[in-house]
Amino acid sequence: MKSTDLLNVIKSRRSTRSYTEKQVSVEDLKQILEAASYAPSGMNYQTWHFTAIQNQEALKVLNDVIKKAFAKSHDKHLQDRGNNENYCCYYHAPTLIIVSNEATQWWASMDCACAIENMFLMATSLGISSCWINQLGTTCDDEEVRDYIASLGIPSNHKVYGCVALGYGNTTVVVKDKVLKDNVITIIS
Ligand SMILES: Cc1cc2nc3c(=O)[nH]c(=O)nc-3n(C[C@H](O)[C@H](O)[C@H](O)COP(=O)(O)O)c2cc1C
Repeated sequence: MKSTDLLNVIKSRRSTRSYTEKQVSVEDLKQILEAASYAPSGMNYQTWHFTAIQNQEALKVLNDVIKKAFAKSHDKHLQDRGNNENYCCYYHAPTLIIVSNEATQWWASMDCACAIENMFLMATSLGISSCWINQLGTTCDDEEVRDYIASLGIPSNHKVYGCVALGYGNTTVVVKDKVLKDNVITIIS
């Protein structure tokens, strides 16, 4: 592959917050998960776990327990989200991958971020839209949320570091051009 092809994939990945109902195929999902598995990890521990949910009822229950946790929060903004019947933290994407890891090493979150970016890039190369979803990261230790994610097979000693929404973006929604900040690169030669 040419380096320009890779740069084009990197540049064309954008966070998508509106999805059609079209499901991601199992073949594509497997490639995306394979890309996650090849990410670097501190000490090559690979202690992460990727839980891919394509069942719409399971996704709805997950959103409901997250909202219940938000509703209990002291933060007014989160309370409002928790009590808003239209709030869907994963933007109704048809597939959500939960990325969890043992919290025993301080770099656990970084391992997960590497795996998540690999998934974003593989998805982009397959014409699949994506978005990082953080809401389970902050609520995974709420009792009801923990019970539910345990029922999905997420190990009890894992924290959730992020989720990946996947699907086909609604083409009617205009995505703003990406504006890069200045002065973020220094080259010392
Ligand atoms: C650590 C992290 C957490 C994020 N959490 C969310 C989230 O919970 N919901 C969301 O819509 N976007 C989330 N994003 C996406 C960012 O808002 C997005 O990457 C940023 O606005 C730049 O836009 P782009 O991804 O289209 O380049 C997150 C991104 C990162 C890296």
